[in-house]
Amino acid sequence: MSNKIVIGTQWGDEGKGKITDMLAETADVIVRFGGGNNAGHTVIVGDEKFELHLIPSGILYPEKVNVIGNGVVIDPEAMVEEMQGLRERGISLDKLFISETAHIIMPYHRLLDHLEEKRKGAGKIGTTGKGIGPAYTDKVARRGIRMIDLLDKDRFYRKLTDTLAYQNLVLERVYNSEPVQAEEIVEQYQPYIDELRLHVTNTSLLLEEAREERKKIFFEGAQGTLLDIDYGTYPFVTSSNPTAGGVCTGAGIGPTRIDDVIGVAKAYLTRVGEGPFPTELQDEIGELLREKGHEYGVTTGRPRRCGWFDVLILRHAFRVNGLTEIALTKLDVLSGLEEIKLCTGYRYRGELIKEFPAEVEHLSECEPVYETLPGWDEDITSVRDYNNLPENARRYIERIEELVKVPVKIIGTGPKREEAIRR
Ligand code: GDP
Ligand code: IMO
Ligand code: MG
Repeated sequence: MSNKIVIGTQWGDEGKGKITDMLAETADVIVRFGGGNNAGHTVIVGDEKFELHLIPSGILYPEKVNVIGNGVVIDPEAMVEEMQGLRERGISLDKLFISETAHIIMPYHRLLDHLEEKRKGAGKIGTTGKGIGPAYTDKVARRGIRMIDLLDKDRFYRKLTDTLAYQNLVLERVYNSEPVQAEEIVEQYQPYIDELRLHVTNTSLLLEEAREERKKIFFEGAQGTLLDIDYGTYPFVTSSNPTAGGVCTGAGIGPTRIDDVIGVAKAYLTRVGEGPFPTELQDEIGELLREKGHEYGVTTGRPRRCGWFDVLILRHAFRVNGLTEIALTKLDVLSGLEEIKLCTGYRYRGELIKEFPAEVEHLSECEPVYETLPGWDEDITSVRDYNNLPENARRYIERIEELVKVPVKIIGTGPKREEAIRR
């Protein structure tokens, strides 16, 4: 048995898509367990670039089974659009399965996402505007609509009418907005439902059958540990649990079925949206990382904020996810820097802190304490053997391993599938 989780250890965009695609070669089933189309995963195969939002990165292998678990929130329109885009590029969707109990993003969820961000003004979260927060809110408030409800037109209409009795009050009285009509939504969603219907099943059962047949299952994370509703920089987080625990609840599989948790960490840090970021670089080095690393959001096109690697964040991710190994991505982007900084602690009101704080107000007062390491000049894109990396690149990796006490087993040296070192 070798079932693995690929998890983001920072604020998302660590390169989970590329690592999942790389490792999916040896997997039979690839599963998304949380988030929605707020995610944007880039996978480059040969000269072709794919940007996936809802569909697991394993879809690029025709023989693999791909699963969207119950923990994912699905926007039917976005889902069908993504499926069509892939189909037009010759990707088969025959082995794509969607959980019958996944919750659905409705048009009013997207609307509420925008209205609430606007209401918050300067205090906004900087969401992707895809309706993620309002959809998860409805799930927890027990007025959500699930995939299984969509399949029966009468039931869909009934549940929608019940939910809208509440949502229209909110739209009209809280936000001073127009109410929405159940009939319109049912009609608007019908063509998408007809398309999705063929893929809907009990995916927990599907995974159990795969396990019994000794198939290898990979769980592809979306977002990252610091965007987790419980372990992230609350409230500047997403509305789900993208950490390893989310796999069990989001895919319908027990913790005893999981063997490895691979933490994906970028060799520096990035963040999109608002919220504190102690090692952020608002200078020419930050600019250089953004340009060289093409740090612009896949989902919203927003420039990503860039900064130095933060060991406290990786230690926090190590603990809450039970990481067994690290995939350190985008090391190639650091080539050419004279020196590289590693944040190994924070200074908070004169005190040295070694653990990532829970409160964002504390975090925003934290000054990073750095260890400075020498950089390297060589282009490392074509390096495939760890020993052929420049000595200072190895020093950087080994210092991270020493500080976090977890092995770095994969090193990203470029965006393409084959551009990586395995140790
Ligand atoms: P995800 O959301 O975690 O899947 O990450 P994104 O796809 O949003 O962002 C990661 C970006 O870095 C993508 O454009 C990838 O193609 C790219 N990438 C991934 N690994 C590497 C690497 O090792 N080196 C370089 N230069 N780019 C990488
Ligand atoms: P991947 O899977 C980076 C961020 C948003 C915002 C916050 C809340 O590509 O790593 P939401 O729309 O989820 O309510 O927004 O979370 N965010 C991401 N940032 N990568 C992602 O996904 C993200 N998904 C959400 O920018 O700050
Ligand atoms: Mg991304």
